[in-house]
Amino acid sequence: MPAYPQTSALFDDWARQGRAEGMEAGHQPRALAGLEQVPVALGDAILDLGCGNGWATRWLRAAAGEGGSAVGLDAAPEMITRATEASTGLHGLDFRVGAFGTLPWDDGSFQHAWSFEALYYAPDLDVALAEIHRVVTPGGTLTIGTDFYEEHEESRGWPAMMGIPMELLSADGWQARLEGSGFAIEARFFSDVSLILRGRRT
Ligand SMILES: C[S@@+](CC[C@H](N)C(=O)[O-])C[C@H]1O[C@@H](n2cnc3c(N)ncnc32)[C@H](O)[C@@H]1O
Repeated sequence: MPAYPQTSALFDDWARQGRAEGMEAGHQPRALAGLEQVPVALGDAILDLGCGNGWATRWLRAAAGEGGSAVGLDAAPEMITRATEASTGLHGLDFRVGAFGTLPWDDGSFQHAWSFEALYYAPDLDVALAEIHRVVTPGGTLTIGTDFYEEHEESRGWPAMMGIPMELLSADGWQARLEGSGFAIEARFFSDVSLILRGRRT
């Protein structure tokens, strides 16, 4: 299932305007609390869904150390261009244009998956979560972070402001969707306004 064309077009524009680096600066302080809890072991393979300019992909790749690898996926080609350019000279990193709903990897390819401020753009969240469940190895993890959820009242206006479809869930709704997709929740907390959930793939 492809991404919404208007969504990838918007983020292509953002990338051309330099806003990917703005997202990195804005998201990183809130995301770090989630990133630091991803139980990365040396040599792990990690997937970053909706990677933008790849800042978190590089962070996770560094955490996986010698023999580790990380892949960033994004529907906006201009984001992938920026992620690739920003990773020049680094090893064990790959960036792909693609959509959450059709992941181009074999079953169980990754020990961990990460996604920050991205999964609510999926045209079908359950299809996206089923694909993530498929490519994460049993016993691996999925960690997500979102600033867009019902209890964060000011975020409710974002779809109208941005002019693209976004799926609004409550914190309980996010937990239920992850659990329903085969991820047993082992952490749920807030980092400033970011809701962070980590699930263990069953
Ligand atoms: C708000 S940005 C977040 C980028 C990055 N995770 C960060 O924290 O800076 C959301 C990203 O998700 C990507 N995206 C949106 N819908 C997508 C889809 N269906 N499949 C893959 N990527 C998607 C967008 O192109 C965009 O780069």
